[in-house]
Amino acid sequence: MFIGVFDSGLGGLSILKQLVRLAPEYDYVYLGDNARAPYGDRSSERIYEFTEQAVRFLFAQGCGLVILACNTASSEALRRLQQEFLPAEYPDRRILGVLIPTAEHIARHFADKKIGIIGTRATIQSDAYVREIKKRATHARIEQRACPLLVPLIEEGWHNTTPARQITRKYLQPFRQKQVNVLVLGCTHYAYIKTMITRMMGKRVTVLDPALLCAKALKRYLAAHPEIEHKLSKKGSGTDSLCETEPDPILLSTDTSDRIKNLVQRYWGGALPIERVQLDH
Ligand code: DGL
Repeated sequence: MFIGVFDSGLGGLSILKQLVRLAPEYDYVYLGDNARAPYGDRSSERIYEFTEQAVRFLFAQGCGLVILACNTASSEALRRLQQEFLPAEYPDRRILGVLIPTAEHIARHFADKKIGIIGTRATIQSDAYVREIKKRATHARIEQRACPLLVPLIEEGWHNTTPARQITRKYLQPFRQKQVNVLVLGCTHYAYIKTMITRMMGKRVTVLDPALLCAKALKRYLAAHPEIEHKLSKKGSGTDSLCETEPDPILLSTDTSDRIKNLVQRYWGGALPIERVQLDH
């Protein structure tokens, strides 16, 4: 069985990269719902519905474990998927998200620090980061802010322009004023402007990209759950139709326009074949 990696779009390729780097022995299938992205301004119900469709699809492709490599989907859908959907329909499969590894890391290393979180509107409005961090570090002081203009700027490739820098600086201003010690990049796209954000926040501030934490958490999870790990196919041993000869991750998307192909090239740092799939039938 494969490891499925799901994101609303292609930002989650930053997480896939870390997964492939830290756990290269497994077979990955990445699914981006580009036709319906961005999710960040959608309602909770819609985000849940789309995420459930995506997970169902990845399970049908032979994924034993799905990682929600999307902060928005993790914030709005992960708990319900784990508590209701899996027990009712797929008790032997697992779904993990990006939020919990980050909350655990903060509780372990920064519990007494001032923490800032940036993300999409849906992620911030869900309060999921605050809830998961406070569960583990009751006294954590947390400031959060939605930065809805950043995803379109990054997708347009405009993030290195003067207006983009001005907008980013404006979003970060409250965190600088409040002198946060840690800033969480609570949206997969922000990994692509981490250098700019780090520079703007200054040396004193730790800028946390959940991608690496997520990959490390997967390794720990698989070591602690051999019953899941044993089911996963390893590179070259795949017998399922999708993965007989393909050593690279398999990339699926609900939209494969030229714009999407260019984004893959930019985010992955090279060409990766992309196949179009449909989730809503
Ligand atoms: N990938 C999403 C996340 O990590 C952001 C993009 C979107 O709004 O769909 O939150």
